[in-house]
Amino acid sequence: MPGTCVIGLQWGDEAKGKLVDLLTGKFDIVVRYQGGANAGHTVVVGDQTYKLHHIPSGILNPNVSNIIASGVVLNPPTVLEEIHGLASRGIDVSKNLKISDRAHVVMPWHMAEDRALNDVIVDGEKIGTTLRGIGPCYRDKVGRNNAVRVGDMIRDDFRARIDRIVAAKQPYLSSLACESTLDAGEIYREYKAYADELQPFVIDTTAMLLDAVEEDKALLYEGAQGALLDIDHGTFPFVTSSNSSGVGVSAGAGVPGRWVNEVIGVVKSYTTRVGGGPFPTEQDNEIGQTIRDLGNEYGTTTGRPRRCGWFDAVAVRYTARLSGVSGLSVMMLDVLSQLPEIKVCTSYELHGERITHFPSHSEDLRLVKPNYETIPGWMTDVTEMREYSQLPDGAKRYLDQISAWVERPVEIVSVGPDREQTIFVP
Ligand code: GDP
Ligand code: IMO
Ligand code: MG
Repeated sequence: MPGTCVIGLQWGDEAKGKLVDLLTGKFDIVVRYQGGANAGHTVVVGDQTYKLHHIPSGILNPNVSNIIASGVVLNPPTVLEEIHGLASRGIDVSKNLKISDRAHVVMPWHMAEDRALNDVIVDGEKIGTTLRGIGPCYRDKVGRNNAVRVGDMIRDDFRARIDRIVAAKQPYLSSLACESTLDAGEIYREYKAYADELQPFVIDTTAMLLDAVEEDKALLYEGAQGALLDIDHGTFPFVTSSNSSGVGVSAGAGVPGRWVNEVIGVVKSYTTRVGGGPFPTEQDNEIGQTIRDLGNEYGTTTGRPRRCGWFDAVAVRYTARLSGVSGLSVMMLDVLSQLPEIKVCTSYELHGERITHFPSHSEDLRLVKPNYETIPGWMTDVTEMREYSQLPDGAKRYLDQISAWVERPVEIVSVGPDREQTIFVP
């Protein structure tokens, strides 16, 4: 049975949420397995827009189970807010949402630390995190001493655990000139209340998913962020703190890789990035502003304007290979419909040499000059098109070229935010 992953191949916000919602009907279970409330996934169905940070984008289908697996860092108030928000819109998640007892909890000291470190300059600029406590929480997971897992919140020694960690964290936060004062009693009461409310959702998802794959269930894995933000293989240090490329699926979900047989690489027809770090094809000019306006490129989580630029085939070829991508889903094709001319970066110039590999060091990536191929635009509205054959020749040529540069077939094309605005390539 299929184990299919949806992985963003750029710097996030490739419209993974739309794709997961669209594909959910073919699966038994949808799994979020890394990242946390730094993600913002949008699903649009008719006049309804859903913005999901924690809950998998399969949640609108009541027949499908949605799992927040062990690799996620969970922010309890955020997930509860999402549960209540969905309930107020008639979507009851009590039967089809489960949360791993192994997932780590983002605690107030993680949020405080993320904020306190926000202005630190790393390799020439700020990382520009989403301020959701992601890095500090993953750091404590790896460090072990000061970690809190979802399962710890519902055990008798939770208060003692908080007392011990607060005693270690307070001097550290004070040393960062952070004004937050941690009140262990208050934190305990707040998080105990969250734990009581979350308890019915909490299970051993690793055991459940292993049973599911052995019972031949069909699983859809929903990646968060994008492969270029991968902690090990992305544009370090301007990355997130989890393995957000295809290599992270197995560890984050707790399911051996042999059960994953299809990886859909999601790309925009151009590139965006939020936060700091090198971005070779960035258009910090009128073209970038036009793309931002046409694509409404403002962050789902933070509202920050997204940096915009041309499609970078060097980067996407790298992340498609890294993620084991079998086919591409090209999103936001409609956004390019008003541009008379479209560029794609197909190689870089580094120290006077033409290269087609993606540099491993951010400083080299900062120095590269993109070499572009220029493609005539199609200047035709594609948002009402539902069949591949209806697309203008120019748009088909663009998709063919993306496929050739990235060396993967284009299988799905998105021409607008709605579920319906999708073309399956025959
Ligand atoms: P994710 O984080 O990868 O799920 O992506 P986001 O939800 O952060 O950002 C994608 C944005 O593009 C959302 O506002 C979507 O509603 C919107 N969107 C998705 N597909 C399309 C498309 O084909 N065209 C346009 N114009 N917008 C789209
Ligand atoms: P989705 O799932 C886009 C970026 C931040 C910052 C860097 C580190 O919606 O695609 P973090 O808070 O994770 O420590 O921030 O990663 N970032 C994202 N950018 N989409 C996301 O998620 C992102 N999640 C994190 O902007 O540059
Ligand atoms: Mg997003």
